[in-house]
Amino acid sequence: MAEFIPKKGPAVIRSADSNQLSDRYRDAVLINYRFLGNVVPDVSFTLNGRTFGMPIMAGPINSKPEYAQAAADAGTVYWMGFHDAEAWKQVLALGIPAIRVYKPLADNSRLMEEIRYDTEHGALGYAMDISHGMTVYGEPDKQSEQFASKTEEDLKLLNDASPLPFFLKDVQSVHDAETAKRIGAAGIVLSGHNNRFPCSVPPLMFLPEARKTVGDDMLIFVDGGMNTGYDIFKALALGADAVLCARGLAAVFAKDGAEAMTVKLLELKAELKGAMANTGSPDLKHISPDSVRVPKYY
Ligand SMILES: Cc1cc2nc3c(=O)[nH]c(=O)nc-3n(C[C@H](O)[C@H](O)[C@H](O)COP(=O)(O)O)c2cc1C
Repeated sequence: MAEFIPKKGPAVIRSADSNQLSDRYRDAVLINYRFLGNVVPDVSFTLNGRTFGMPIMAGPINSKPEYAQAAADAGTVYWMGFHDAEAWKQVLALGIPAIRVYKPLADNSRLMEEIRYDTEHGALGYAMDISHGMTVYGEPDKQSEQFASKTEEDLKLLNDASPLPFFLKDVQSVHDAETAKRIGAAGIVLSGHNNRFPCSVPPLMFLPEARKTVGDDMLIFVDGGMNTGYDIFKALALGADAVLCARGLAAVFAKDGAEAMTVKLLELKAELKGAMANTGSPDLKHISPDSVRVPKYY
């Protein structure tokens, strides 16, 4: 009997590649420079009462403590994926400001145990990449442990398990953004999770609607090819509080090492500062939506 064997990884056909769709949208947004009455801007960013040098964080892609340290050396926050528990403990022991992104494990008690550890050992916050509940072929996802599509009740339990800020990563819909707000999450990360699902709405396209949905009290972070300070400026002008950069930093780290990654982050910060200084944006709270234009054909 003929059988369809699910392929590993995302179901990519070129026209449906969500990374490409996101890149195209982001590149189509343009910056409206404004040259009169400008000042040197303040690009510092505050998260959970701590002030960081830039609103550009190292996204979850690499679990090496040296990678985490490279982010800290640039004056910013590091996000780590779920799998390497030992590396995560080392990162916390080093005092690096870090947020762990949990997979949506079916077993809530396992998650509660890990969140308790984070709370007692100085994590900056915790998160969940919600797009890992189901596979692209419609079955509950599973890696070393069983995952599940989380319910609002699950998420409320996890949010209430710690005073640390909780973030839902991979939000792409009003439904999930509203759920995040109702459970009392500190924020959401708009992300296509590296083309996990085909044909997904570019994070920057969804961003203004997401901001309208959650209001001004919740944090919104965005990722997806945030590889120049100008990309980052566009995200901030469209309503984000900060961005995550994953593949761009991981590539620099892999090729040229930790110091080069720190320099890359400082370069992104300098470019962002330049974009802010030349658009009448004295600080992150005063970047006007009028500073960018989205072409009418979108
Ligand atoms: C090799 C690889 C590993 C990743 N691991 C994780 C992970 O463990 N948790 C997570 O939330 N996202 C993970 N991501 C997704 C990234 O954090 C990010 O959402 C995505 O790559 C888009 O951002 P970018 O364009 O800056 O890379 C991974 C991406 C790649 C390419």
